[in-house]
Amino acid sequence: MAEIISYEHVDVSYNGQLMVQDISFSLGQGEILGIVGESGSGKSTLLKAALGMLGKDGLVTRGDIYYEGRDLPDLPPEELRAISGSGIGMIFQNAGASFCPIRTVGVQLQEMMEAKGHKDKGQIEKAAMELLEKFGFAEPKRILQSYPFELSGGMQQRVGVAAAMLLKPKLLLADEPTSALDVTVQKQVIEEMLLARQLFGTAIILVTHNMGVVRAMADKMLVMQGGRAMEYGKTVEVMANPSSPYTRKLLDAMPRLRR
Ligand SMILES: Nc1ncnc2c1ncn2[C@@H]1O[C@H](COP(=O)(O)OP(=O)(O)OP(=O)(O)O)[C@@H](O)[C@H]1O
Ligand SMILES: [Mg+2]
Repeated sequence: MAEIISYEHVDVSYNGQLMVQDISFSLGQGEILGIVGESGSGKSTLLKAALGMLGKDGLVTRGDIYYEGRDLPDLPPEELRAISGSGIGMIFQNAGASFCPIRTVGVQLQEMMEAKGHKDKGQIEKAAMELLEKFGFAEPKRILQSYPFELSGGMQQRVGVAAAMLLKPKLLLADEPTSALDVTVQKQVIEEMLLARQLFGTAIILVTHNMGVVRAMADKMLVMQGGRAMEYGKTVEVMANPSSPYTRKLLDAMPRLRR
């Protein structure tokens, strides 16, 4: 299978201090990787490293992150910006907060698409309506005409996922996309991401604290601790036969599995 993204022995430092060490994994089209691990173990750092979002103090100090044959940490900012959104989409914990409060959802989707070179407003609106409909929104027009505050937090997050998919990225980076939501809405957002994979073959890297979510949707999983990979492999294999005590502890903490 052709790989969409491949991390090879990646180190990341902040202010010269090594925070993520020797991380390798790869994903093919439509594959989902779940990343779990304690707070501060480097999960978000791994996602940010792909799109050069480590801030002024952060740097990939060793290794490669290949996306479609290009080594992302080597690319100039303008090339990364071109890939960001169109090739690699991102969803954060609080997508609602990334919408501007004083402009409608529709206007903001227009702006996002225009920034990526799509100029035909009618075409953009049509695409947005179709996509929202595919994702099960009963009244797409109403969503587009809404201000963010008129939508619930869960609805905002679901619209955020749909918005990311408007650019048809090959890879979606999702950093705890469901952590702020209640359980029923969590399930809807997870289902929406699975549908994105099904409809568009999107590969997904999902950071989550929820092992149940990993079990339900991830083909592969990576367990992080203190900036290192404790475990990496097919989810079914890791869960059936964890090799590190830390992974075993995480698995023991989740509701009993029928192995
Ligand atoms: N901009 C930064 N400058 C300095 N140190 C940073 C910066 N961002 C993150 N770190 C440090 O890097 C380490 C990894 O942080 P990261 O945010 O990747 O963890 P995480 O696994 O996503 O944690 P959480 O589950 O709490 O979101 C932490 O020790 C953190 O303090
Ligand atoms: Mg994080």
